[in-house]
Amino acid sequence: MDHASRPAILTPDREGIAEAARILREGGLVAVPTETVYGLAARADRDESVAAIYKAKGRPSFNPLIVHVAGLEAAQALATFDARALQLADAFWPGPLTLVLPLRDDAPVAAAVTARLATVALRCPAHPVMRALIAETGLPLAAPSANRSGGVSPTDAAHVVSSLEDRIDAVIDAGTCEAGLESTIIALREGGRWQVLRPGPISERRIAAVLGTSSEAVTSQAIEAPGQLASHYAPGKPVRLDAPTAQADEFHIGFGDVAGDVTLSASGDLDEAAARLYALLHEAAASQQKRIAVAPIPHDGIGTAINDRLRRAAA
Ligand code: TXA
Ligand code: MG
Repeated sequence: MDHASRPAILTPDREGIAEAARILREGGLVAVPTETVYGLAARADRDESVAAIYKAKGRPSFNPLIVHVAGLEAAQALATFDARALQLADAFWPGPLTLVLPLRDDAPVAAAVTARLATVALRCPAHPVMRALIAETGLPLAAPSANRSGGVSPTDAAHVVSSLEDRIDAVIDAGTCEAGLESTIIALREGGRWQVLRPGPISERRIAAVLGTSSEAVTSQAIEAPGQLASHYAPGKPVRLDAPTAQADEFHIGFGDVAGDVTLSASGDLDEAAARLYALLHEAAASQQKRIAVAPIPHDGIGTAINDRLRRAAA
């Protein structure tokens, strides 16, 4: 492909999806829309393709990737599902839930995907374009968020291009992602225990309602998912949280009654705030101001995930 034209911008229709599938089958890298954030996809069964993801992102090789599948049947070829995993898949797939499950010995997954852990992270996405792409390739696709490692995740194609530039082959531009925050990651453990490895669009309460075992639930303290390191989602400027007012040199991100220079949601709607969070962090990063201040955000529902990302952005 001509260097100057990279990445190719593909349309989210049959033609664009067919071209994306061709690039992926040949081992290339394509940024793809999902209902959470844009992902950087490669075929999950080939070492060189997976290695290319780590290289393009500058991602440490000890940080494993999520594998995206068409449905439960494809997932069961890769991991062992117990009764609880089946219940969660039934309740939340397709959708923004990632399950960390025991990797099958015969799973056609490159070793680099799991960073040699005995488990694999699986997600069945809901976005129609991503679903069509998985169907067209007939392959499980490894896809971390489509940003340089440590940076703010992309919620539109322009974010992807400005972060990864010509390090990738193509991006399918399907507009803005609906949820705006990465999937909830749940690890199922021995003896009925489970852990939230990353809070996300599906709340812990909804998981507990399905598993019916909230008393046995343990919330992650020592976090094993290396992507959960404190300094993540960094916009490249100091970030101050819980700020009802801002200084002159701060770009102020508001919420509810706190107007700010821009607002996550004037009406105080947490779903709207989640969908807008990364776009406003990108905007704040590009602004004149040297620092960023963010209004207080309530901790209920998806507010837990918003505050988790803000804490990491500020770390
Ligand atoms: O919404 C999402 O999940 C997006 C879209 C593209 O699907 N993907 C995403 O991928 O957020 P990424 O790579 O940015 O985050 C994957 C997280 C990391 O924190 C990683 O450490 C964790 O999943 N992870 C992957 N495999 C794991 C495993 N076997 N055990 C524990 N954590 C794992
Ligand atoms: Mg990420």
